[in-house]
Amino acid sequence: MKYIRNLFLLAVAVVAVSCTTGQTTTTVGTSTEVEKKVEQLLGKMTLAEKIGQMNQVSAGGDVSNYAESLRKGQIGSILNEVDPEKINAYQHIAVEESRLGIPLLVGRDVIHGYHTIFPIPLGLAATFDPELVEKGARIAAVEATAQGTRWTFSPMLDIARDPRWGRIAEGSGEDTYLDSRMAVAMVRGYQGSSLDETSMAACVKHFVGYGAAEGGRDYNSTYLSERQLRNIYLPPFEAAIQAGAMTLMTSFNDNDGVPSTANAFILKDILRNEWGFDGLVVTDWDSMGEMIDHGYGLDRKDVAMKAANAGVDMDMMTFGFLSHLEELVRSGEVKESTIDEAVRHILRVKFMLGLFENPYVDVEASQAVQYAPAHLEAACKTVEESVILLQNDGTLPLQADRIRTILVTGPMADAPHDQLGTWAFDGQKSHTVTPLKALQERFPGKVVYVPGLQYSRQERNRFDDVVAAARRADVVLAFLGEEAILSGEAHSLADLNLIGSQSALLAALKATGKPVVATVMAGRPLTIERDLPNCNALLYAFHPGTMGGPALANLLFGDANPSGKTPVTFLRTVGQVPMYYSHNMTGRPYRGEKMLVDIDQEAGQTSLGNTSYYLDYGAYPLFPFGYGLSYTTFAYSDLTMDKDVYPVDGTISVSFMLTNTGAYDGTEVVQLYVRDLVGSLTRPVRELKQFQRISLKAGESRQIRMELPVADLAFFGLDGTKKVEPGEFHLWVAGDSVSGEPISFQVR
Ligand code: GLC
Repeated sequence: MKYIRNLFLLAVAVVAVSCTTGQTTTTVGTSTEVEKKVEQLLGKMTLAEKIGQMNQVSAGGDVSNYAESLRKGQIGSILNEVDPEKINAYQHIAVEESRLGIPLLVGRDVIHGYHTIFPIPLGLAATFDPELVEKGARIAAVEATAQGTRWTFSPMLDIARDPRWGRIAEGSGEDTYLDSRMAVAMVRGYQGSSLDETSMAACVKHFVGYGAAEGGRDYNSTYLSERQLRNIYLPPFEAAIQAGAMTLMTSFNDNDGVPSTANAFILKDILRNEWGFDGLVVTDWDSMGEMIDHGYGLDRKDVAMKAANAGVDMDMMTFGFLSHLEELVRSGEVKESTIDEAVRHILRVKFMLGLFENPYVDVEASQAVQYAPAHLEAACKTVEESVILLQNDGTLPLQADRIRTILVTGPMADAPHDQLGTWAFDGQKSHTVTPLKALQERFPGKVVYVPGLQYSRQERNRFDDVVAAARRADVVLAFLGEEAILSGEAHSLADLNLIGSQSALLAALKATGKPVVATVMAGRPLTIERDLPNCNALLYAFHPGTMGGPALANLLFGDANPSGKTPVTFLRTVGQVPMYYSHNMTGRPYRGEKMLVDIDQEAGQTSLGNTSYYLDYGAYPLFPFGYGLSYTTFAYSDLTMDKDVYPVDGTISVSFMLTNTGAYDGTEVVQLYVRDLVGSLTRPVRELKQFQRISLKAGESRQIRMELPVADLAFFGLDGTKKVEPGEFHLWVAGDSVSGEPISFQVR
């Protein structure tokens, strides 16, 4: 059932992300007035003009190249044009020179900022701060819409549990709940609480399961069961659509043999019929055409038919709809009513964005908001909250008054392009402030820069220059990691160690005996276990963007205290893939059995205890999900619940004391986890259900209360329905996904 709601409900409809499901109605948010306009316009359109709206073209070069198609109404949307003059020119032809004057929907990958680049989405997730992430998305929308982009292909909601997959950089990591919270934040930020000229239609992608690519190889097949889809991969999309996301993109992968771009089960049964989504569904780049390569379609006509009948509205760069839909309608293989519904979804978004009233941008004025000081400040704050302190022997925070000479080294110390990370198309490296630049500005005359390695993959076995400089310095700041090109789309890696000779560089620096602080900038969690002994402290910054330098300088010298938490598990070795916190218990959980090093030669076949672990790398990761240190410490105590037994429609109230037991003011991300001990299906050992950032002064204690609707414990069980199954549960409140002692409660 679909509700027609006005947009002001959009701000209200967002609320809790508890993924209630099934009959909840959702909508992109529309109004009777919009619906009337849609129907009036649709009624005037020829079949060719309808099909033209379903065609998206990647622009670039001369506008004149597209003029003829625009005049014929053969293009409904363009992407990859960001010059506001050109966008105005495209719009002018579409609006003034075509029969019906339907404006174009101008799309762009504004993934983590437009000009002001924020941390990559994996870094945004590490903040566990949806409000701050929403603010960043709003800034991206203000900058992008000012220059004519009114549709972003973001947020990417692909749950990723395999760091070999390069696109783990673009999502919110391994956890369904964290992903859902970030999804809602970014949709709200992009679209705004009510639609106006700064609203940029969000596009939740890639629908669905793309991050489960077998082998972590991009575009590879996935084999997710319906239960896995419904309990792990779909909820973030549902939350985003409940929050009013206006568009959705299909994914490249085939799941269990069916490519998403022709998968009516997900695109119709779930998306339209269960969730009531009435926004626009666009393919991924040529994902329609690629179904021929998948072996799922004979030719472009065949795949165009399959995509249209499965519920796709707009074709990105296959031109299958433009070339074949008219013929398919004439032959009856595709009903014209299917075309009409697709065009309604497209026109609805265009009317709601106000494109008919105002398709043009003020080119002059558009420059003023780009890189505005407030935007840069927000980006800096976001980096500060996204950086994760993984190791610290007390060397951090550095005391500036005790330091005369700072050696800055490493391939990421002054990499203005690579620091922006993947999918930073419009971030200009001239605006990037690198760690080197920030430190030189902050400590004039104190910073010595010897890169040691010009780029991450460089092979070098001697570091005499860097070692000599280190001996003359009071502290060594090594900025390591991977360039932007080593992460993102199509950039999967089979080896996750620091690439090239970076580990050797770190070892050489440590051998000098000077304090060494490593900062890793990467698009994924690398396997850094072998590097930890070679540094006194280690900060992990998922490619931090434009303001990475100032933010890292603030963190290194204590003007900011790290609060980031791992949004994805950090492995000890790539051989542990996949390893994530919300795993099942199995029938033989690891119970501390012997490791390779403990085994005597003649060990009997069954002497080691038959449980689930690796003889060489054990059963645990290097750092678990939700983990991150601070310059201070926090203690949890007096965890209580208001009841022992709750009804399925009840609300759990949890209370505990949080104390800052250290010497620095700091912020803790308190995390609430639950385990369903017995279910109609085996259940994860822990699932994140709430989190909250709590800031405390040094020595301060505060009673914290968290409320959790019992309904949030629901899952799709053996019978395929989503419900809370009565029984015993455990609940933790802790600073990561493995700490804390559980408290039991019953649901009856
Ligand atoms: C790419 C990506 C998708 C992106 C689209 C447009 O191939 O898969 O995430 O939005 O093409 O650039």
